[in-house]
Amino acid sequence: MTMKGVLFDLDGILTDTAKFHFAAWRKLAKEKLAVDLPAEFEQELKGVSRVDSLVRIMNYAGIKEQYSAEQIEKLANEKNRYYVEAISALTEDDILPGITTFLRELKEQHVLSAIASASKNAPLILEKLGLNSYFAAIADPRQIAHGKPAPDIFLAAAEALNLAPAECIGIEDAVAGVTAIKAAGVIAIGVGDPNELGQADLVIPSTVELDYGLLKNLFDQKQKN
Ligand code: BG6
Ligand code: MG
Repeated sequence: MTMKGVLFDLDGILTDTAKFHFAAWRKLAKEKLAVDLPAEFEQELKGVSRVDSLVRIMNYAGIKEQYSAEQIEKLANEKNRYYVEAISALTEDDILPGITTFLRELKEQHVLSAIASASKNAPLILEKLGLNSYFAAIADPRQIAHGKPAPDIFLAAAEALNLAPAECIGIEDAVAGVTAIKAAGVIAIGVGDPNELGQADLVIPSTVELDYGLLKNLFDQKQKN
């Protein structure tokens, strides 16, 4: 089998939006829930869907029972308004190091790229970064039953490329995301701290390290095992 597709997480892999997500959650938590979120909470929300993130925040504060599903939805929409405003100034200067070269290289090698992000803002962000033309598919998080750490979004991304999961490599910066990739039967590359992302088949410190040769070697080595 040869490597035919790469399934990309977006937030934290193509661009560093985690700080904007967390700032928007902090603002919402403080202003609407009277809750102060500690800095460490940022990590807990990476890769987690919008509503699931709010539920985690409410559970942390022990106030979840006080809110109906409808109120939760409304508050989540409000957070998204803060977030969309914060990312309105994103440009191609905000693409993480090495990503554009890597995407170009994959295209030259005829390896397909797809987005497997929990974010409903993925199309907007890709447009702002000017990266649309590199992706053959964007899996729609609205169409899947379970968010990360469930495998659904990675399975949907592979399917959108007409590939089997085993023909792909997934790239993630979040613990929930690496768990999702592995659950989908896809080879996982984690970008970040090996102590957190140890479940991945390979952990690299930064997106600068990403290149076709690295992925091909990992894929071919996994075929032998
Ligand atoms: C993930 C982020 O990519 O998308 C999470 O890491 C975020 O922090 C999730 O909650 C959903 O994003 P959005 O843009 O649909 O609210
Ligand atoms: Mg991410």
